[in-house]
Amino acid sequence: MDRLEGKRAIVTGAGAGIGRSIALRLASEGARVAIADVDESAAGKVASEIEGETLARRTDVTRAGEVEDLVAGVVEAWGGLDVMVNNAGVGVAATAVETTEEDYERVMDVCVKGTLLGMKYAIPAIRRAGGGSVINMSSVAALVGITDRAVYSAAKGAILSMTRAAAVDHVEEGVRVNCIAPGTVDTPWISRITSGYEEPEAARANMQARQPHGRFVTPEEIAAMAAYLAADESASCIGACMVVDGGVTAR
Ligand SMILES: NC(=O)c1ccc[n+]([C@@H]2O[C@H](COP(=O)([O-])OP(=O)(O)OC[C@H]3O[C@@H](n4cnc5c(N)ncnc54)[C@H](O)[C@@H]3O)[C@@H](O)[C@H]2O)c1
Repeated sequence: MDRLEGKRAIVTGAGAGIGRSIALRLASEGARVAIADVDESAAGKVASEIEGETLARRTDVTRAGEVEDLVAGVVEAWGGLDVMVNNAGVGVAATAVETTEEDYERVMDVCVKGTLLGMKYAIPAIRRAGGGSVINMSSVAALVGITDRAVYSAAKGAILSMTRAAAVDHVEEGVRVNCIAPGTVDTPWISRITSGYEEPEAARANMQARQPHGRFVTPEEIAAMAAYLAADESASCIGACMVVDGGVTAR
């Protein structure tokens, strides 16, 4: 498939998990992809997995100057930007009672401020390129109550609301803004969460069991949705929340 031929894309948090799979998928469909991650060596490794033209950039999405430089660097190298995937995110497994102020600030900063900054600097560049697609990473935690995810749910709910607001702000400029709401996806993040439980294997089995289709969603399944949203064939998807959750929200 070459439906992304000629497109220039940035994926944040692309050094691991879902972001890595999205970067590989966009590249496999013909896009030039910039791999951005706060972990520079992880970004470099993912870039080396891609055969086509690519860039690896150390970028902390909570820092305005770094996000601005990331977008400017891609525009300078490739003459413009067509697709921005604001994927970087962190979570905390805690109820409202248990959540610390530090965790609140970290999760809101990376998820909400990071997504805002990604849109703030990418949208003007995409507009100048004649239009394109912004893909934000929400979660089913924005749509249904999930235990131990109080602040993470708030952050992902904010991303969903911001996606809709930005979609109507920029639709006339040819910039489409959508988000994806994954269910539980098997990434390094899952191991980090389960390692905090007394019985990590049981915690992993529980997370899998809460998926109605009985397994984790794969990062590749989320990447396939991102590729669709990046492609022109999704031209009528504006402010949409694309649920890829194995049936969690259908219950
Ligand atoms: N895994 C899931 O079950 C799941 C479900 C729904 C939504 N999501 C969302 O998908 C996205 C990716 O999740 P994942 O499971 O692949 O996570 P992950 O932890 O496996 O990978 C996240 C990547 O983001 C990078 N990152 C963290 N903070 C950053 C920052 N400030 N700036 C730039 N990069 C940063 C990390 O270095 C890492 O490479 C997140 O937004 C997450 O909330 C994940």
